[in-house]
Order: sequence, then structure tokens, then C-alpha cells
Amino acid sequence: MSIISHDRLLIIDFGSQVTQLIARRLRELNVYCEIHPFQKVDAAFLRDFAPKAVILSGGPASVLTEGSPRAPEALFGLGVPILAICYGQQVMMQQLGGQVTRGHGTAEFGRAYVTTAHKKLDILDGWFENGLEQVWMSHGDNVSKLAPGFDVYGTSPNAPYAITADPSRHFYAVQFHPEVHHTPNGAKLYENFVKLAGFTGDWTMGAYREQAIAAIREQVGDAKVICGLSGGVDSSVAAVLIHEAIGEQLTCVFVDHGLLRQGEAEEVVTMFRDHYNMPLIHADEQDLFLTALDGQSDPETKRKIIGKLFIEVFENHAKSVGGAKFLAQGTLYPDVIESVSFSGGPSVTIKSHHNVGGLPERMHMKLVEPLRELFKDEVRELGRELGLPESFVGRHPFPGPGLAIRCPGKITRPKLEILRKADAVYIDQIRKHGLYDEIWQAFVAILPVRTVGVMGDGRTYDYACALRAVTSVDGMTADYYPFTHDFLGETATRIINEVEGINRVTYDITSKPPGTIEWE
Ligand code: XMP
Repeated sequence: MSIISHDRLLIIDFGSQVTQLIARRLRELNVYCEIHPFQKVDAAFLRDFAPKAVILSGGPASVLTEGSPRAPEALFGLGVPILAICYGQQVMMQQLGGQVTRGHGTAEFGRAYVTTAHKKLDILDGWFENGLEQVWMSHGDNVSKLAPGFDVYGTSPNAPYAITADPSRHFYAVQFHPEVHHTPNGAKLYENFVKLAGFTGDWTMGAYREQAIAAIREQVGDAKVICGLSGGVDSSVAAVLIHEAIGEQLTCVFVDHGLLRQGEAEEVVTMFRDHYNMPLIHADEQDLFLTALDGQSDPETKRKIIGKLFIEVFENHAKSVGGAKFLAQGTLYPDVIESVSFSGGPSVTIKSHHNVGGLPERMHMKLVEPLRELFKDEVRELGRELGLPESFVGRHPFPGPGLAIRCPGKITRPKLEILRKADAVYIDQIRKHGLYDEIWQAFVAILPVRTVGVMGDGRTYDYACALRAVTSVDGMTADYYPFTHDFLGETATRIINEVEGINRVTYDITSKPPGTIEWE
């Protein structure tokens, strides 16, 4: 529950895959919202939360199934505007006296076209100007009889009640999903809805910062917190925010496994220890990791060695802080939206690399996760708000196992050194050409193969490397970045001239799938 008061919108989640996108659209409108699973929302909850408006999400269930999710009856007596989406529409209709039937041949999945009746409806202002709009549907059941007071404002071939409303009560319902990309102008619906509900757009990153700080103080009290810093954006922003909230109660642990990029360890230490004045343990464990990896070439074995050692090292250093009760993590919203399970409330799964391999359970620690409600780009915005330098905030993702998975075959110190230098030249090229922000991730992989070359009048026998650059929205799928030949040629020349040990440069043009972004 929030501590600072803002106009608040409540999203009641029935378990749709895209509920988070509703929150996203509202954030874009500077509206503060919270998503809560339907099981949690009863009359008392509604009273405490005091929403200015409510949105009912979609969900995978059928209202015709016994025991399927419902909204609390008290909701409809609150006197606040309600927007009900897909399953939410069916719930609202049924609870208010309408009817839903299983769609015999009326299921609709994917793109559909909705036409509006020529009746004016405030929530459709500036939308459906030509009477027809593309929307995205995903439903098996359909509303078949409207609840008293409702009227129909839009239909699609398979959804006769695609848009319905009872304007006198400000109850609105749509069968489609206005929050997804494939409803190209759907944002307009949310804009109209929050406007008519009286939101002023007072929810900014500055407000989030204030609120998160208050919440951290309340959660932590005077206990100690430790935070694993990786040098990545998420853990860095989390650390700066928590430090702002509780100062010296926070200690950061930065494990240097010897697989970082050029200058990275120094950068992290300088920034956090010197600039932010944070208590920081710089665990220089390069020897430990590189010795354990010596002679290993199997990708999974390498990952396991690094993962296991990381936990041990982190645990040891964290213990030296003494009595820390909380572990801070930069978990983001997309990591926690495994969302609602119908049996037991929200089921949260944190990706293994985010919870540093089960550390919280092992160390009996409670979690502080101040970024849990943010999307990646919002974390960057918060980082800027907190004064982190742009070069840091806008960084490409970097994997936990570091350069180990960019060094196929056996890892040796000289190879890592060559890789670091080549990577630094490549990234410098990308920045110089103004391409850094267009690319999701770019790096060099050093290949376990030597090739013959000629430099000056001499023969060389050095490593080959591969450049990788991809575009992606979430790292799940990716495409290679279409550099110009001039760029590639110039970069290859620079790497070979500036990095001793490499005499051949290739460009990896594999998409994901079938490739992965990293080489291992
Ligand atoms: P792949 O190679 O699977 O990578 O296409 C997808 C994204 O995940 C990153 N990655 C990792 N990040 N720990 C991490 O923190 C890991 O073990 C790990 N493996 C891959 C990768 O850099 C890319 O952004």
C-alpha cells in the first residue's frame, strides 16, 4: 500500500497475460495505478485503497465456469468510473444482471474491426473518427444480453457487444484489448477514461522516487541491507535509490569475477564509493574464478562454476557486514508478472539470474525490491532522476557470467585481455557513429581459432573474433543490426590495427532464433 497520497487507480487482475500493459499505458499518462489480484480485493480493501477509478483486466477463465473469478460486489456501489476489459467486461455484465454465453463459432483471436454506432460516448472522444478501428480480440465467450442501464456503442463481426457502457454511472466495457500494440489507437481510450475520472497526471518519476524512498524506509526500519552490485543498470539504480532512503544502513557487494569489460570494475568502484559515498565491498575474486575455470570449455560447465562460486563469494562477503536482514535486488516488473494464479494469489517467479541463484532463501533474508513496479525504460528514467550519468543509465545489458560466455572454448587471461581490448574498440566505434542507442546489445566474441594473416611484410597467426550487434525489445527474440559495409570495414581495420592478437574480424548475422544473442 502506498504511503504518499496520489490520485490512485486500481487495476483488478483476473490473470490476463497483458495486464501489465494496462499499467504501462496509464504510466504514460502519468497516472498512478496499482495492480492487485482479484482474490485480494474485497470491500475492506476497496475502502482502504479509495480508488478514483477502477479497471477490470482480462483473464483466461470463463464466467460460465463454476467458481470462476468475480469482482467484489462492493465495487459497483463505489460510485467511481469503471472500465472493464474482455473477461472483465463479462464479469461486470454478469454481476450487474446481463448474460454471457459460450461463443459457438463466435470466438475471436487476433485482429478484428470494430464499428461504432453513431451515438456519442465520452470515452471514445477522438477515436473512431471514421466509425471503424482495428482492435485486438482474444475471447471465446461473448456478452449476449446487456445489464440494465447499458447500451451498445460498438460491434465487431464476432462481438456484437464490443463496446458497451452505462454513461450515467460511468461504467464502460470493451471486449477487445485497448492496451496492446495491435489496437493501434487504444491509448486514446485510456486517455479519455482517466480524464473523465478526474486524474490530473500527477504521477511522475519524481513522485515515484519519493514514494519508493518512503516505502523502503518503512519496510527496512533500522535494519541493515546488502545489495549485490553487478555494474548493470538495474542493480545500480536500486542501490542508489536505497542509499538515498537509508544511507549507511546499505552496504553494496560488488563481486569482480575477472570476467568484466575494460575499465568496468574501476568505474563501478569509483562511482559508488567515491561519487555516491556508499559503503562498498569490492570483492576482487578474479583468481578464484579464473582458476576454477581453467581448462574448462563446456558452456554449461562454465556457467555452473561461475554461478556456484558467485553465491559462495557473495555470501562470505555479505556475512562480513554482520546482521543484515535484507537483500536488495533490481527485480523489474516483467520479472514478476507471472501474475495471478487462480488458486493461491499472485505467483511470483523471479528469474534465476535475478535472485542470484537462490541467495535469499539460503541466507534467510528478506527482499527489498524497489524496482518491482517498473519497466526497463522506466528504470532508466529513474536512474536519470537520481543523477546517474547517461552513459551508465543507457548501457546495454551485460550477462551475469560476463565475458566467459563470449569466449568459446578455454578461457585464459591473455584471451580475456584481447577480448576486452577488441570490445572496447568496437563499442567506441558504435558510439562514435551514434548507433549505441539503436542497438539492444553489441559485443565481441573471441573465437577459439587462430588464422593466418599478413601484416606489413610479416606473417601473423592470431585469433579471429566475431562482432555481434542485435536489435530486440526484450532479449527473447532478436535480429542482427544492419551496419553499413563502411562501418564494418572501418571497425575491422581499427580492431586489427589496435588490438594485438587479433588478425581477422567477422560479423555475426544470425538472428534469434535460431541463434542466441550470446555465443554460449
Ligand atoms: P541469449 O544469449 O540467451 O541472451 O539470447 C538473452 C539475454 O540474456 C542475457 N543473458 C544473461 N543475463 N545472466 C544474465 O544476467 C545470464 O546467465 C545470462 N545469459 C544470457 C544476454 O546478454 C541477453 O541480453
